[in-house]
Amino acid sequence: MWGSIVQAVWSFMLALRERGLGSIWATVAIRREREIAELLGIPYDQYTQIGMFPVAYTIGTEFKRAWRRPVSEVLTYNRF
Ligand SMILES: Cc1cc2nc3c(=O)[nH]c(=O)nc-3n(C[C@H](O)[C@H](O)[C@H](O)COP(=O)(O)O)c2cc1C
Repeated sequence: MWGSIVQAVWSFMLALRERGLGSIWATVAIRREREIAELLGIPYDQYTQIGMFPVAYTIGTEFKRAWRRPVSEVLTYNRF
């Protein structure tokens, strides 16, 4: 299921970007899927929620890569 959802979300986010809008993917909301379904009127038994995507105008449109620690500092093999 996720194999097709990710592309759809990616397209959605690109379309937002084109319009000066941005979003993030928050899966954590699914922990309260039933409550969200009731709040938003989503038929809980018929639909599977895959995340929540807040949408807003971004502060500026000049995006660049965020700084990240080198992968060698955060990735380990066969140990923690
Ligand atoms: C499938 C997926 C699920 C995500 N779920 C969450 C989430 O539940 N909470 C969260 O804070 N970020 C989540 N993220 C990350 C955010 O979408 C976003 O990338 C992040 O908040 C931006 O912060 P960063 O600049 O540190 O990446 C998820 C990303 C993906 C691809």
